[in-house]
Amino acid sequence: MLHSAILNVMIRAAHRAGRGLKRDLGEVEHLQVSLKGPRNFVTAADRKAEAIVREELAKARPDYGFLGEEGGAHTGADQTHRFIVDPLDGTTNFLHGIPHFAVSIGLERAGVIVAGVVYNPANDELFVAERGKGAFLNDKRLRVAARARMAEAIVACGMPHYGRGGDLALARAEIAGAQREFAGLRRYGAAALDLAWVAAGRLDAYWERDLSPWDMAAGSLLVREAGGFVSDCDGGEDMFKKGQIVAGNDTMHRELLRLLNEAGKEASKAAGRETVKP
Ligand code: IPD
Ligand code: CA
Ligand code: CA
Repeated sequence: MLHSAILNVMIRAAHRAGRGLKRDLGEVEHLQVSLKGPRNFVTAADRKAEAIVREELAKARPDYGFLGEEGGAHTGADQTHRFIVDPLDGTTNFLHGIPHFAVSIGLERAGVIVAGVVYNPANDELFVAERGKGAFLNDKRLRVAARARMAEAIVACGMPHYGRGGDLALARAEIAGAQREFAGLRRYGAAALDLAWVAAGRLDAYWERDLSPWDMAAGSLLVREAGGFVSDCDGGEDMFKKGQIVAGNDTMHRELLRLLNEAGKEASKAAGRETVKP
């Protein structure tokens, strides 16, 4: 598969940061048994991964802007390009030694994501996409699943949890709706990989609220380039602004939007919403 020069740079950055994270995962496994636990170590690993990604990308495109989860936003001399990076998506998994996490790098040009890389170093799965050129897993072309019946489909989600905030009543109504209508519901804990797995046809659909641009940038392009659809929870294009995403093939995306809409109505009937401590 012939990639553009910039995609190769993004892949190199993800590989380098990923190698470090994979080494660090070994250490995290040891730290589980210590009383202090691995939290500080993981924070350091996360920051180190972002520094590596930033350094690799800046070597090749010093003028581009950069938005990273750890280091925040840096505007570049080139105002039309910006990298959007989550150096470690799936931190809670990583912290617990669960090998399901990823380095996620998206490239935005004039407000549109044009290239994306999601790399899980634990199993060496590299998902890449460029706008108009398709999506690939380790050089194999990806297509979203063709399933058209919810009763046969698997849907993944994210949900409010301690330290994160979120609308519990709404989440419960949405989850109950998914339980009623889909063959299976999953919560894997790494948004970038959830999207990559929709692109790969492993998951039929996925939705989540309270996300940040770096959780979705690369993964949203993977889904689109694999022939799928992504939107915010109202079916619009404001994923980054609203911090939410719904993904799937044509039918699953539409059905999931309907389900979320119905759940929203149900939840707003219930007075006095309960929330999770932010
Ligand atoms: C989180 C993961 C998780 C999602 C959270 C994200 P992080 O990212 O993607 O699956 O539910 O909303 O914040 O903190 O591990 O980079
Ligand atoms: Ca994340
Ligand atoms: Ca992160």
